[in-house]
Amino acid sequence: MENKIKKIGILTGGGDCPGLNAVIRAVTKTAINKYKLEVVGYKFGYRGLYRNDFVKLENKDVSGLLHKGGTILFSSNKDNLFNYNVVENGKKIKKDVSDVAVENMKKEGVDALVIIGGDGTLTSARDFARKGVKVIGVPKTIDNDLAVTDVTFGFNSAITTAREALDKLHTTAESHHRIMILEVMGRNAGWIALESGIAGSADVILIPEIPFEPENIIKKINGRHKRGKLFSIIVVAEGAKFKNKEAVVSKIVKDSPDPIRLGGIGNVLMLELEKLVGKEHEIRNTVLGHLQRGGAPVTFDRILSTRYGVKAVELMMDERYGNMVILKGNKMHYAHLENVIGRNKNVNPEGELVRAARSVGVSFGDE
Ligand code: F6P
Repeated sequence: MENKIKKIGILTGGGDCPGLNAVIRAVTKTAINKYKLEVVGYKFGYRGLYRNDFVKLENKDVSGLLHKGGTILFSSNKDNLFNYNVVENGKKIKKDVSDVAVENMKKEGVDALVIIGGDGTLTSARDFARKGVKVIGVPKTIDNDLAVTDVTFGFNSAITTAREALDKLHTTAESHHRIMILEVMGRNAGWIALESGIAGSADVILIPEIPFEPENIIKKINGRHKRGKLFSIIVVAEGAKFKNKEAVVSKIVKDSPDPIRLGGIGNVLMLELEKLVGKEHEIRNTVLGHLQRGGAPVTFDRILSTRYGVKAVELMMDERYGNMVILKGNKMHYAHLENVIGRNKNVNPEGELVRAARSVGVSFGDE
């Protein structure tokens, strides 16, 4: 049977993460080698779709990409075409320019899109699907906060970076008998802190889902002291909150659809703890920041990205448009974007992972 789809486009939107190139490679190779499709890649996510700025992708363009971090197509987390910044009659206004993107696709003969992104990018993917554009979503984000899929690609690479940082902080903490704080990313979800904290044997893990009180952290640190453990490791998610307080905001990026950037809780926490422990313990704070988003994907993410990319093209060929590829257990599946968007996945404070951490002595600062 002849393929209805002859030419597909790929774009990567939102904050980058390890594994984006691996998905681009898998989509391109599967589309060309298995289904004889043409492939183009739009630059800087939706901005490329609006400006009709794309590159043709051949096997040679994606060869050697599997282990490379970043995205060869570049990415932007500012370009929502349904509410786009344009200048008209000398005035800056927000406008729905999605029809321009649809026209550009028609002009170039692009039949369908693989859209690789997190919540914001996939919200636009859903909106394009509502307009009748043939889209398949691929769930990306280091935060692992997308509902329905067990895991997003990029998350395992980020927690490996955070775990390695915790291992290193351990040795210097031990040498100086210090309290070391590591602030990690994750937006309003505590997955990175929780999983890197468990793997990096943190003594205290602070996550947005469980508000904390500094006195409880001191209790934990003093308990360790009594047992001869003269150093302590705290991992704090950027979205973690003191009880009855809001998360700490590092900056507002005005032209971003999601303008709030969290960050700074590590330093605030250090100053609070210093007040309570006096000169008895020295405290240092490390902010891991965008190191969590850079570099090569770990083995798990290379495999997951490849599976996601292959499945995305297969879904297209089965005409299952408007869906996102997902991992359930160890099986590839798909879920409709309408059932994914606006349903963030957070850590369950009563869940098995939190209980396991508590069982091995981790304090969440809440008791
Ligand atoms: O969503 C991924 C993420 O890295 C978050 O963990 C973090 O809060 C945010 O993006 C940082 O965004 P930016 O790259 O704009 O600083």
